[in-house]
Amino acid sequence: MLKIIKLLQVLTDSNTLKIGRDYSANCFYKGKSMKNNNYKAVKRLDYRAPDFTATDIELEFNLSDDYTIVKSTAHYIRLTEDKKAPLCLDGEDLELHSVFVDGLVCKYTEEKGQLIIEDVPDEFDVSIENVIAPALNTTLMGLYKSCGCFCTQCEPQGFRRITYFLDRPDVLAKYKVTIIGPESGCGVLLSNGNLVESGEKQGRRYCTWVDPFPKPSYLFALVAGSFDLVSDTFKTKSGREVSLQLYVDRGAYERGLWAMECIKQSMKWDEDRFNLEYDLDNFKVVAVDFFNQGAMENKSLNIFNSIYVLVDPKSATDTNFFNVQSVIGHEYFHNYTGDRVTLRDWFQLSLKESLTVFRDQEFSSDVASRALTRLHAVDVIRSAQFAEDASPMAHPVRPEEVMEMNNFYTVTIYDKGAEVIRMLHTIIGEDNFKKGLALYLDRYDGKAVTVDDFLSAMSEASAVDLTQFTRWYSQAGTPVVTAKWAYDANEKKLTLDLEQKTPPTLSQKEKDPVVIPIRTSFLTGDGKEVTPPELSANGIIMFTKDKESFTFTCDEEVLPVLFKDFSAPVKLDAHYSDDDYKLMLEYCEDPFIRKNSSEFLINNYVKDHLESADNLPVPASIIEAFSHVLSDKNGDPLLTCQVLNIPPLSVLTELCHKIDFDALHTIRSFIEKEIAKALFADFSNLYAKTKATGSYVYNIKEMSKRSLNHLALKMMIVKLKDDKDEDKAADLVRDHYKKSDNMTAKLCALTLAVHYDLLCKEELLKEFEDKWSGDPLVFDNFFRVQATAPSEDTVKIVRKLMKHPCFDKTNPNRVRALVGAMALSNPVALNAKDGSGYALLSEVVRDLDKVNPQVAARILTPLLSFKRFDEARAELARNELLRIKSEKDLSNGVFEKIEAALNS
Ligand code: TRP
Ligand code: ZN
Repeated sequence: MLKIIKLLQVLTDSNTLKIGRDYSANCFYKGKSMKNNNYKAVKRLDYRAPDFTATDIELEFNLSDDYTIVKSTAHYIRLTEDKKAPLCLDGEDLELHSVFVDGLVCKYTEEKGQLIIEDVPDEFDVSIENVIAPALNTTLMGLYKSCGCFCTQCEPQGFRRITYFLDRPDVLAKYKVTIIGPESGCGVLLSNGNLVESGEKQGRRYCTWVDPFPKPSYLFALVAGSFDLVSDTFKTKSGREVSLQLYVDRGAYERGLWAMECIKQSMKWDEDRFNLEYDLDNFKVVAVDFFNQGAMENKSLNIFNSIYVLVDPKSATDTNFFNVQSVIGHEYFHNYTGDRVTLRDWFQLSLKESLTVFRDQEFSSDVASRALTRLHAVDVIRSAQFAEDASPMAHPVRPEEVMEMNNFYTVTIYDKGAEVIRMLHTIIGEDNFKKGLALYLDRYDGKAVTVDDFLSAMSEASAVDLTQFTRWYSQAGTPVVTAKWAYDANEKKLTLDLEQKTPPTLSQKEKDPVVIPIRTSFLTGDGKEVTPPELSANGIIMFTKDKESFTFTCDEEVLPVLFKDFSAPVKLDAHYSDDDYKLMLEYCEDPFIRKNSSEFLINNYVKDHLESADNLPVPASIIEAFSHVLSDKNGDPLLTCQVLNIPPLSVLTELCHKIDFDALHTIRSFIEKEIAKALFADFSNLYAKTKATGSYVYNIKEMSKRSLNHLALKMMIVKLKDDKDEDKAADLVRDHYKKSDNMTAKLCALTLAVHYDLLCKEELLKEFEDKWSGDPLVFDNFFRVQATAPSEDTVKIVRKLMKHPCFDKTNPNRVRALVGAMALSNPVALNAKDGSGYALLSEVVRDLDKVNPQVAARILTPLLSFKRFDEARAELARNELLRIKSEKDLSNGVFEKIEAALNS
C-alpha cells in the first residue's frame, strides 16, 4: 500500500504535466496488486522451446527522477508451426501505456504477469510503451536507484520488470539502447556494447549504445549517474587495444585502483590459460552501493556490489583485497562462459556458474595462492554446502523443480558445481580439459545450451565416457565414502575396501553410485611417501561402484592418504587414529591433507565427548600436534595458520545428526582454552616474531604473516582471559588497534575486544564508530563484529543496532552485516535458548519480505534446518516459520523455503 501512496505523491507533484499525460488511469493508482506470487513450481523436464523468438530490440529509456518511460520495439519471428499461437510476453510491476503490432493498434490482454497478443503474423514488430518507478523499486531487481544512480539487475528475471519481453535465456537478440538522462542532469549514461551516438535532446543528454553480440535479456544492463572514473587500457594478444573503464563512487578513485589491476590480470590470465581474448573494444565495470548479490556479468558492462571493488589499506582487509581479485575475475570470465555461450533455461544455471567459479578459482590459484584458494573452497563446501545438502532445500547441481529462481543461487550450484568441474578436470586432465572447453565455446558460440551439451563436448574432446559422471548433476546429497584397509605382511599387499552411499534427500530416496576420483598416496611409518605400481600415473583411484576393493603392493605397512587436494566433494569415513592424523599432519605435503588432519584430530575429540561435555579431559593429542606445528621453523606461515585453526561451530555441527549447540560450543571453547594455556609461550613468541614491520602492503606473503600474527594474539587473549588478567588482555588489544596502520589489524583487535568482552571494548567501538560512520561500506564492520559475538546477549545488541542511524533495511549490505551475520555466522546467538534469536530473525524476515524478498529469503536459511535442533529449539523455530508463513502476500522465495522446511 505504502508504495502506491508514495508513487501517487510523486506523480501528482509536478511530473504529470511535464510530459502531458494523465496518470489517473494507471495500475498503481487503481491499487492493483503489485505482487505476482503464484506459488507454482516449474519443472526442468517441462521445458518447451519458445513459440517466438526476438532477433532485435530497440529500447529507449526516458529517465526522470521519479519515474521512467520505457519505449521498446522488438522484432519477433514465429518458431512454432501453430499459426494460432499468440505472442505471450513476460512483465511484472509495469504500467502499460500502448502496444502496437507493426505500427497498428492490436488486440491484447494483460494478465498474471503476461501480455498476450493474439492474431500475429509470422514476422512482425511489437512496439510497447510503459512506465516504471525505479525510485520506488526496493527489490533491486529490474531498474532501480542506488544512491541517486540508476542501475539494473536483470538476472534471472528482472528484465520483465523493465518492459514486456520474452524474458527467458533462450531468446537471444541484438540490443540498441538509447538513454535519455533525467532533467536534473546526470554524469554518464551506459549500456552494453559500443557507444554509437550521443548528444542533447530538448535540454537533456542522451546516449545510444549498440551491442553487436546477440544476448538473452538477463545480460542487459543500464547505468546512469555520476561517478569517479578510473580508466586504463589493455592490449590483447592479437594487438587490439581495449579501453577499460571502472566507475566508482564520487571521491573513491583511489579505492578503485586495485580492482583495475585485477581487470587487467583477468584479461591476461584468460588469454594465457585458456586462449580466450576479449571480444569488444571496451570493458566497463560499475560499483554500486545497493546490490542484492556480489556482482553481475552483463555483457561489457559488469555491475558490482561496491564491497567487491572498493579497497585500500586503511579501510579494507586482506580478505577484501583477495575477494575483489576473485570476483573481478569471476565476472570477467563469464564473458565466455555465460555470455558468449549462455543457458537454455534456468535449470542449467550451474552450466555457467560452476564453470566460472572453477575458472576464477584457477585464476586465484595462479595469481594469488593455490593453497589458500583451495583451502577456502574446501571450507565453503564443508561448512555451507554440506549443510545445504543436509537441509530441506537440498537440490542437485542441476535442480529438477524451482518456484523462485533467486533461491537457487546457492553453494550447491556454484561451489559444489565447481567441485564437479574440478573432478572432471582431474579425470580427463588439463590438456583434454582445455581442448574440451575450446570445443564447447566454439561449437555453441552465440547459443543457449545445456549441461548435457557441455558434457558432450568434454567427452568428445577427451574420448572419455562421461555417462555415469552426469549423476553428479542429478543427485542431491553428500556421498559418504567408507574406507577400510588391511596390510598383509606375507603377501606384501595392502587391501583397500571402499563403499559409497549417498543419503536420501526429500525428493530422491534412492541414489546410484557416483564417479569418485580419489587422489591417493601412501605413507610409511616414518613419513616417507611410497607409490605402489597399481596406483595410476596421476595417483588417482577411480571409485565408481557401490563397493569395491583395491589391492596395492607395498614392501612395508603403509597408511593410505585419501582424497588429497579434496579430490571429491564427499565425506570420508575412515578410522584414522590420532597418531595417523599426526603422521599426515607432519609428513604430507598436500595442504588440504595437513589442514584436514588437524581438523579431524579436533573432530575426533569432539565426537568422543559430545555426551560428556561437562567433564572434559585435556585434549593431549591436539595440543601435541599444535605444538609440533608451532615449533616447525620452516613451516609456511600460510599453512601454519590454516592448520592451527579450530573449526568454527558451523563446521562442527556437521558432526551430529541432531545438533547439540550447547555441547558443541562448550567443547570448542574448552579446546581453544586448553591449547592457549598449554602453548602460551609459543604464541607469545610467534606474536612478537610476526609483528608488522613497515607499512601495509597487500600480497599473499604479508597477508599470511598478518594472519599468523592475529591468530597468536587471539590465543594470548584466550589465555589471559582465563587467568582473569583483564587489564593485560585489554592493553594488548588496545595497543594492537592503536599502533596498526591498516584495517586488517584494526579489525582483528576490534573483533577480539568485542568477542572476548575485553575492558577496551567500548573504547574501541566508539573510536571505530566515530571514524567510520560516514563510510557505510567500512561501517558494516561495526555491525558485523558485534553481530557475530558468540553470546546469547548478541540478539539484544543486534536489535538495538537496527535503530542505529547508519542501519538501512533497504540496503542489502547493511542487512547482511547485521542481521545476516547473526543468522548465518553466529550459531550461539541465533540459537539462544529462549528463542529470541529465532524471533528476531522471523521479525526481520516478515518485514523485509515486503521490501526486498530476495534478501529476506536468503537470511531465513538457518531456520529451515529446525528439525535437526533439540526438541525445545525445534519447537521455537517451527513456530516462527509458521508465523512467517501466515503473513499476507508472502513472496514466492520465502514461501518456497518455508514449505520445504515444514514438509521435510
Ligand atoms: N550471475 C551473477 C554471478 O554469479 C550473480 C547473480 C545472479 C546476481 N542473480 C543475481 C547478482 C542478482 C546480483 C543480483 O556472477
Ligand atoms: Zn557467476
